[in-house]
Amino acid sequence: MNTNIAIEAIGLVKRYMTYERIGLFRRRRRVVEALKGISFNVRKGEVFGLLGPNGAGKTTTVKILATLLLPDQGTARVMGYDVVEEANEVRKVIGVSLTVEKGFFWKLTGRENLKYFGMLYGLDGQALERRVNELLKMLGLDDLGASDKLYEEYSLGMKARLSLARALLTDPPVLILDEPTLGLDPPSARSLRELLVRLAHEQGKTVLVTTHNMFEAEIICDRVAIINEGLILAVDTVKGLKKKVAEDVSLEIGLILPAKISSSELLEKIRSATGCPCTLLHGEEMHKLKIVAPSEEVDEVTALALRLLHDYKCKVRRVDVKEPSLEDVFIKLTGRGGF
Ligand SMILES: Nc1ncnc2c1ncn2[C@@H]1O[C@H](COP(=O)(O)OP(=O)(O)OP(=O)(O)O)[C@@H](O)[C@H]1O
Ligand SMILES: [Mg+2]
Repeated sequence: MNTNIAIEAIGLVKRYMTYERIGLFRRRRRVVEALKGISFNVRKGEVFGLLGPNGAGKTTTVKILATLLLPDQGTARVMGYDVVEEANEVRKVIGVSLTVEKGFFWKLTGRENLKYFGMLYGLDGQALERRVNELLKMLGLDDLGASDKLYEEYSLGMKARLSLARALLTDPPVLILDEPTLGLDPPSARSLRELLVRLAHEQGKTVLVTTHNMFEAEIICDRVAIINEGLILAVDTVKGLKKKVAEDVSLEIGLILPAKISSSELLEKIRSATGCPCTLLHGEEMHKLKIVAPSEEVDEVTALALRLLHDYKCKVRRVDVKEPSLEDVFIKLTGRGGF
């Protein structure tokens, strides 16, 4: 394994067995192929993002890398250790934070929880005390007055911070974080993002984060893998990914849809009329139709789209032509978007 590589995934496949109800008492076995053979490398000292919509396979990937789930096929290595054969070694070099946290004690305070896990990891005495205080401060739990509150009284954001604090207890070289900013208010999310970048760029830690937030991926990740339906569609820097849409523009049409309309039919019509990938995003007041169009065809595509929207009795409220973003890369790669 290349010594610059911290995490290596090769052809990971994961299938879940589930049952679906057919009729009142009968059920049928169903296999969900959550990962269909994904491969990527994360370099030491970088913030690497797994970016994809709900159900893409991000958490499944993270759980395999964190030795919490066995792959059906393929292999993965973290700091050179195989996640299946050398799971114990892997656990020593990673700090993990998952979104659904079951592992904290509800009747203990944040500080007590951290001390407990610190002891499990072999820390004790002054060193443990110092590390716990440092982390409570670093994650802003002290400022929120949450250090000595019971875990059951924690808000979602406080839980997210405590989870990251636990991942950092042993100061591991690799952090594996599933949607670390989920539930945080915008200022807290910003400071946590800054912290992750500092941990990577100043302390040389390798940070793997999953997110469905394009904006987040764009500002913190050195490189991003776009994952969709269990497949990796592209891995590159944000800049490199944006080159895929360098010749394109992002046409955004703000509109109000009539009550009875099939948005998938409308999108299909627009796709076939314009030949461009497009998606419909749901806003509070209006919907936003996004079309990724070649720059030189934008006038023609706008006219075609407006005519179709008129035929479908949609009320157009705004038309913008913008520089393409990471979201447009995703729309172009998958033909869909909206997360
Ligand atoms: N325990 C399970 N049993 C059955 N199917 C599962 C299980 N866990 C995940 N899946 C399915 O596997 C696929 C990938 O799920 P996964 O949780 O990895 O996605 P994700 O990218 O993390 O999504 P999200 O953004 O919603 O967290 C989905 O289709 C999901 O329904
Ligand atoms: Mg997930």
